[in-house]
Amino acid sequence: MRLAHISDLHWLDLTGTRFTDFLNKRWTGGFNLMTGRAKTHRHEVVIAALDAIRAQHCDHLVVTGDLTNLAFASEFKAVKKILNSYFDDNQMTIVPGNHDYYTRESGKADRFVSCIYPTLPGDIAFSFDRPWPFVRLINDIALIGLCSAQPRPWFVAAGRLGQRQLDDLETVLKHDEVSKRHKVLALHHHIFQVLTSPGERFRHLDDRAELLRICKKFDVDMILHGHNHDFTQLKCGNTILSEAGSCSVFHATHPNRKGKFNLYDFGAKGLERIETWHYDTEKAQFTHWQTVTPAEIPNAPELT
Ligand SMILES: [Fe+2]
Ligand SMILES: [Fe+2]
Repeated sequence: MRLAHISDLHWLDLTGTRFTDFLNKRWTGGFNLMTGRAKTHRHEVVIAALDAIRAQHCDHLVVTGDLTNLAFASEFKAVKKILNSYFDDNQMTIVPGNHDYYTRESGKADRFVSCIYPTLPGDIAFSFDRPWPFVRLINDIALIGLCSAQPRPWFVAAGRLGQRQLDDLETVLKHDEVSKRHKVLALHHHIFQVLTSPGERFRHLDDRAELLRICKKFDVDMILHGHNHDFTQLKCGNTILSEAGSCSVFHATHPNRKGKFNLYDFGAKGLERIETWHYDTEKAQFTHWQTVTPAEIPNAPELT
């Protein structure tokens, strides 16, 4: 059983947008686009990642958010179209990032859900009043999608699950069809700081301690996330936290920051190994970078 994991595509498509669409928090995002993000995150790198993933015969694709730059409908539609040219809706699970709920207006319109999930996913019916959390049963894996993204003030990229979603997550994890499987959570925001991230408290998951408490209580196997645009693999108790980096980065001097995706191989006893591939600008394709087993993954530091 093989899962593929990509994140932080930051697909740019401004078709049909107007000047007035930028008269809000998008003003800062638009400035970022003009000063480098558009050059850093490239469509051809995302397509190369999807080509490489398809060639590796994966059972399911997990996308942990920041599909877009500014949460425009044009961006959601374009990125969904490209993903669907490789994977059907039932072969992939997508959760939103902070850029997918970039403004209050995009949150109010719930554009992520309307563009990405015309039919809400979920293999077990729960009576929650929001799409999150949902669970997909994929052979021996229960893959649980969470939403850590919500509109926040200017210059704040932090995430939050909220008490209601955390309570609902406990309900999901107690379900017989979930508890007997390998439990994998997918969300956008990171739990542990990396050295390269300044202003950390404005970037990470606010309620990360509560999430880790639930992971310990229910023996969650993995948390898959993005957001850092870096590369971290950490163990917290029995839970492995794995970041996919950003799959769209064209060039980066540090190998942790290159365009990247992960492949997770599961056997009867759970996760067996993680393969990471990254983008080679000279070959214009993704190549294998490293493979680790769970035993080789370092323990996470104490939360501060
Ligand atoms: Fe991102
Ligand atoms: Fe993000």
